[in-house]
Amino acid sequence: MVYISFIAIACIAIIIISLANMGPTITKPTTVTGSITPSIEASIGTTPRSIPADAWKAPDVSDIPVGKAGGAIRYGRELIANTARYLGPKGSVAMITNGMNCQNCHLAAGTKLFGNDYAGFISSYPKMSGRSGKVEPASERIKECFERSLAGKAPDTSSREVQSILAYMKWVGKDVKKGRKLFGNATEKIAFMDHAADPVKGKEVFVMKCQSCHGSNGEGLLNIDKKTYTYPPLWGKHSYNDGAGMYRLTNFAGFVKNNMPFGATYQSPQLTDEEAWNVAAFVNSQPRPHKDQHKDWSDLKKKPIDFPFGPYADGFSEKQHKFGPFKPIKEAQKELIK
Ligand code: HEC
Ligand code: HEC
Repeated sequence: MVYISFIAIACIAIIIISLANMGPTITKPTTVTGSITPSIEASIGTTPRSIPADAWKAPDVSDIPVGKAGGAIRYGRELIANTARYLGPKGSVAMITNGMNCQNCHLAAGTKLFGNDYAGFISSYPKMSGRSGKVEPASERIKECFERSLAGKAPDTSSREVQSILAYMKWVGKDVKKGRKLFGNATEKIAFMDHAADPVKGKEVFVMKCQSCHGSNGEGLLNIDKKTYTYPPLWGKHSYNDGAGMYRLTNFAGFVKNNMPFGATYQSPQLTDEEAWNVAAFVNSQPRPHKDQHKDWSDLKKKPIDFPFGPYADGFSEKQHKFGPFKPIKEAQKELIK
């Protein structure tokens, strides 16, 4: 009896939390945290880990200054969290992106460790881009995620939107000195497997652990306003294109290992490394928009080992560059750079 009433109370609580979060001011889908029931089986093979006390922490939102400068930071943060509302297919400022939010991949507006956080971004720019072969300003890197991850067009770098995103990036990374080694920066580099990642096994992971939110065709779930996603798509025409960072297996595997199913963290991951690699292989084998990238990585020696389009400086196939095993490629690359 006690058990049943506990479940009933929990369900009511989840419904109340969901309703409370439905208003137009949601910045992150906290609703989903409530509905996660990590299965016992999911934690098998994953060891709890801890974050060192001196790891980077984002500045507190309540410390954003008042006035004009603060306004730009706040608008920038809002654009990261709710990009689609302003720039999506039904955006109020411009209709130039696929409907995803930057925050879908840069969790908690880029403040979550191992959640593609922005800690080290601003201090490392301008920087030499291996992809374009040019020294790029930070605004250029922001544009790239618009054109690849959001498979659309970037607003002009002089626009209020890009300038506000930059203001937010400067604020969020203000305590990081250039070159500082950051624990938890971007995504975790999980250990390579000795064999290739397996899309067939990855499909099983997807069906068991991802489909409930992201949909059986990876199409995601639109919010009731039909403007923004409650659960973003993983493939198909509204997803990131094949020039995006997520299309590379190491980024995808490292991201989901620490963040998916939604609610997972570095401290309590819910996928084994193998599951993370395999589900990455499955999702990135599904159809998605294509981007012409033949001009990227013109210095072949700098091409990332998991970039799935040739030509390469080494003799490994596109298939191996896509799914692994990556160790031999890494070794070969070390030789080439010598
Ligand atoms: C589909 C997932 C996805 C979305 C959506 C996305 N990004 Fe990214 N972004 C990534 C990944 C993965 C990386 C890192 C890998 C790489 O270097 O390509 C990255 C890297 C970046 C970086 C460089 C970070 C650094 O430390 O060097 C910036 C800046 C950035 N994104 C901004 C944005 C902005 C702004 C948006 C929204 C307009 C956005 N991203 C949307 C996946 C995404
Ligand atoms: C409980 C619901 C839920 C489950 C289950 C879940 N996700 Fe997600 N996923 C989300 C939400 C919500 C976001 C966006 C996070 C945000 O905007 O703060 C997301 C974002 C993502 C993203 C980045 C954005 C995109 O659409 O490309 C990837 C990749 C991803 N999930 C993969 C997975 C994989 C793989 C699994 C299974 C191992 C999984 N997710 C399971 C809710 C879920």
